[in-house]
Amino acid sequence: MTQHTEINICLIGTGRAGMIHARNLISKINHASLAAICDVNPENLQKVQQELQVAKTFTDYHEALADDEIDAVIIVTPTVLHREIVLAAAAAKKDIFCEKPLAMTVAECDEMIAAAKANHVKLQVGFMRRFDESFQEAKRQIDEGAIGSVVMIKSLTHGPSKPQPWMFDISKSNGPIGEVNSHDLDTLRWFAGSEIAEIYAIGGNFRSPQVKAQYPNFYDTVAMNLKFSDGKLGMIDGAQYVQYGYDARVEILGTDGIMQIGTQTKYNVVTVNRTHHSQQTAMNSWRYLFRNAYVAEDQAFVDAILNDTQPVVTGEDGKMAVKLVDAGLESLLQHRVVKIREDD
Ligand SMILES: NC(=O)c1ccc[n+]([C@@H]2O[C@H](COP(=O)([O-])OP(=O)(O)OC[C@H]3O[C@@H](n4cnc5c(N)ncnc54)[C@H](O)[C@@H]3O)[C@@H](O)[C@H]2O)c1
Repeated sequence: MTQHTEINICLIGTGRAGMIHARNLISKINHASLAAICDVNPENLQKVQQELQVAKTFTDYHEALADDEIDAVIIVTPTVLHREIVLAAAAAKKDIFCEKPLAMTVAECDEMIAAAKANHVKLQVGFMRRFDESFQEAKRQIDEGAIGSVVMIKSLTHGPSKPQPWMFDISKSNGPIGEVNSHDLDTLRWFAGSEIAEIYAIGGNFRSPQVKAQYPNFYDTVAMNLKFSDGKLGMIDGAQYVQYGYDARVEILGTDGIMQIGTQTKYNVVTVNRTHHSQQTAMNSWRYLFRNAYVAEDQAFVDAILNDTQPVVTGEDGKMAVKLVDAGLESLLQHRVVKIREDD
C-alpha cells in the first residue's frame, strides 16, 4: 500500500496495449509518473526509451519489483504471464493494474485476488469500456429504466489486426473469446446487473488458414448465445483480423425500447460526390475509439491508490470474465451448452 501523493509507476510489457498506458502516464495522468519500464525484449525497450525517455528500464520484472522507488505496476504482458507477475508484485507491496483478461483460469484469479488482499494492495483490471462516456451513459439510462426492463443485450467486437504469434496457441491466449470478447462478457454482466448462467459458443478459423495444421483449435470468429440467471438473454459476436476496421457496438433491447451504442465510423462526416456514392471513414482502432477511456481508467487507478478506495473494476470482475471465457471455450471445443455455477 502506497502512502505518497505522487505515484511512481512501472509499466511491465511495452507492446501494443502497454504503449497506450505509457503515453497516458507521460502526459495525461495527474499525481502519477512513468518512473520505469520493463520488457524482456531489449529492442522494444530501446524503442520506447527513445520516444519517452523514462528514468529506469528493466528487462527482468523481479528487478523492477525490488526497486523501492516504484509504488505501483501496470502489467501489460501476454495474458499467460499475468498470474506470476501479479503474485510477485503483490508480494513486493506494489499496487497493481493488470490488463484484461486477468488470467487464464479462475483458480489463477483466486490466487491473484487473495495475494492482493493479503498484501493490502489494489488490484484493478483493464476493462476500459466501463470508463467510456457512451457506455457510462447507457448504463445510467438502463438503471433509470429508460427502456423498461432489460430483455436482451447483444455485443459485437471485431478487431482488425493479425493475431500476435502467441495468440494462435489457445492454451496460451484462450483465443478471441479471451483476447477480444472478455470485454463483451464484462459489458453484458455490467449492463444486465446479473450473472451469466449458460453459454453456447460456436466458431471457426476463417482468416488464418496457414496455422490450421499447427494450431487446429485456433478460431478467429465466434458466436455465443448466453442466458443470465434472472432469465435475460445475451449474444456476443466476436472476430479477430477482420481488417476492415475496429468495430465495437452494443444493442440493448428492453421491455419499453431499445438502445444502441457505437457506430462503425470514425468521424461524424458523410461525403457524397458526383459518383453518387457516399463515403464515411471507418473506425480503425481500439486505441482511437477508447482513447479517452484508457486515460480515465489509468486516472481511476491512481485515484484509487491515493484515496485508498476500491478500484472501479475489481479483481472479482476480472475473475468473473475469466470464468465466462473458460466456459465459452469449453462450449466451443466440446460443442455443448455449458452451465456456470455461481458458487465456483
Ligand atoms: N484493454 C484492451 O483494450 C487491450 C488491448 C490489447 C491488449 N490487451 C491485453 O494486454 C496484454 C498484452 O497484449 P498486447 O497486445 O499489448 O501484446 P504484445 O505482444 O503487443 O505486448 C506484450 C509485451 O510484453 C512483453 N513481455 C513478454 N514477456 C514479458 C516479461 N516476462 N516481462 C516483461 N515484459 C514481457 C513483450 O516483449 C511485449 O513487448 C494482453 O493481456 C492483452 O489481452 C488489452
